[in-house]
Amino acid sequence: MDLKLRNFITLLDYSQDEIDYLLNLSAKLKNDKYLGKEHKVLSDKNVVLLFQKDSTRTRCAFEAGAQDLGMGVTYLGPSGSQMNKKESVKDTARVLGRMYDGIEFRGYKQRDVEALADNAGVPVWNGLTDQYHPTQILADFLTIKEKYGYLKGINFTFVGDARNNMGNSLMIGAAKMGLHFTGVAPKDLWPEADLINTCKEIAKESGATITFTDDKMAGTKDADVIYTDVWFSMGEPDDVRIKRIKQLVPYQVDKALLDNAKQTVIFMHCLPAFHDKYTDVGRDIAETYGTAFPKIKAGEMEVTDEVFESDKSVVFQEAENRMHTIKAIMLATMRGNDE
Ligand code: CP
Ligand code: NVA
Repeated sequence: MDLKLRNFITLLDYSQDEIDYLLNLSAKLKNDKYLGKEHKVLSDKNVVLLFQKDSTRTRCAFEAGAQDLGMGVTYLGPSGSQMNKKESVKDTARVLGRMYDGIEFRGYKQRDVEALADNAGVPVWNGLTDQYHPTQILADFLTIKEKYGYLKGINFTFVGDARNNMGNSLMIGAAKMGLHFTGVAPKDLWPEADLINTCKEIAKESGATITFTDDKMAGTKDADVIYTDVWFSMGEPDDVRIKRIKQLVPYQVDKALLDNAKQTVIFMHCLPAFHDKYTDVGRDIAETYGTAFPKIKAGEMEVTDEVFESDKSVVFQEAENRMHTIKAIMLATMRGNDE
């Protein structure tokens, strides 16, 4: 397996074997880290991280991961560079590609990360766009493998805003790796038909199945994994809130939903999550809409605090795995097998 100079901008570009390879490399790097075994094998390299949107996990995973690999790191935030304001993405790519050995991008448009990839001449990694969040999926699948020992045949249920970056990317990942993916959401929050059809085609080869339903009990029955994400994603206007709350309050992941799944079910979330009143946005939404929608009164939205804090919840193991998997992506795409 040689992934040198490959971009990582959607899992659609990666085969099952390649994803498997990255997951195994992640597990190895995690083990090395736990053993205190140094792996500064890219100490002659530097990476740049371009963030148009906020981040805790992705930014820190890239920074800590790059440092563990011995690399230098530059972070450019939403106001820190000329990109998009005085310089096109294409020109930015051609500049940064001459200074850095790898580029991470988190932003709005998938076509921006594609433009970087087409013009930089060094690997470009998608740290989230409106459409996809592929590095997250590797962390999620590593976590499932750690919990169950395998991916093929896992009953994976995503509940909530299924037509967003997370819903899209989890469906692609499941199709590639042979999981049984069920999206549970109101019909107008299902992914685009084209993407569903593409995934169904991929699924034919892997043994995966791709199903959508608006029936939360049917969709979570026998689930090995119940996964959810925020109801409104970064970059969405505030005026979608009321509509989305109305649509998704019935789909809040609560104990009844977990009890409906297999006894061994695990709860997953890419984070950050609204599960209590200790966030500014959660409090604001609870104050504004809590009277009309009592279920969100305590700042709990996509998941109740009870489920989030339960022993079924693996969200912090999943968050840690962001670093091990991102490190594997950087290492695999920057260094060939013969080096
Ligand atoms: N899951 C995730 O991407 O988290 P951040 O927004 O904190 O990077
Ligand atoms: N769908 C979320 C994912 C955050 C990691 C967002 O885009 O805000």
